[in-house]
Amino acid sequence: MGNVHVLDHPLIQHKLTFIRDVSTGTKEFRELVNEVATLMAFEITRHLPLQEVTVETPVGPAQSHTLAGKKLGIVPILRAGLGMSDGVLNLIPAAKVGHIGLYRDPETLQPVEYYAKLPSDIEEREFIVVDPMLATGGSAVEAIQSLKKRGANQIKLMCLIAAPEGVEAVQEAHPDIDIYLAALDEKLNEKGYIIPGLGDAGDRLFGTK
Ligand code: PRP
Ligand code: URA
Repeated sequence: MGNVHVLDHPLIQHKLTFIRDVSTGTKEFRELVNEVATLMAFEITRHLPLQEVTVETPVGPAQSHTLAGKKLGIVPILRAGLGMSDGVLNLIPAAKVGHIGLYRDPETLQPVEYYAKLPSDIEEREFIVVDPMLATGGSAVEAIQSLKKRGANQIKLMCLIAAPEGVEAVQEAHPDIDIYLAALDEKLNEKGYIIPGLGDAGDRLFGTK
């Protein structure tokens, strides 16, 4: 079963408070989401393997390290996931970015895929799927399925806020996936919104309603 990691770094928790705040406007909301994504990416990449290399400093050779192993890919789930991808790219600028477009049917809450464009060397990459919200889990389950179907074999899921229902859905459908969150909230309401959550992430990021 994949592990759930709630990243309790004080800076993440501080910024998340202002992300939740209904009085935070679009510009500040977007900036904060990207900042938290950067901080979360820092925690998520702790495991990356290193290789020893020799580097020539101005005064002689030094044994040092560079990243080894798989190359990285970021997959924002459109559209709200776009709000997190630049934040991750701040730390990993060489990562390739794939996109999966999903929306929740407002009646059934089921995800509908409308777009998928992924790097061609998909088997060779470790992917971080990003989406601010993990509510029923339908979108994340579908996005991960879409990646696996195309050959991805190492995937992590990174969300700002999850409901327990969403975590359970991902764990059941994809027991191999680790989930990284800034907060695990209480529940879903009858419309599938996370309580207390932050409202509609896509609308708050892009100023739509
Ligand atoms: C939101 C959010 C997730 C999804 C989570 O997207 O960004 O993708 O809902 O809900 P789920 O876990 O119940 O599937 P939405 O469908 O509102 O689309 P948007 O990003 O285009 O606004
Ligand atoms: N999608 C959102 O944007 N917010 C929620 O609370 C649930 C799904």
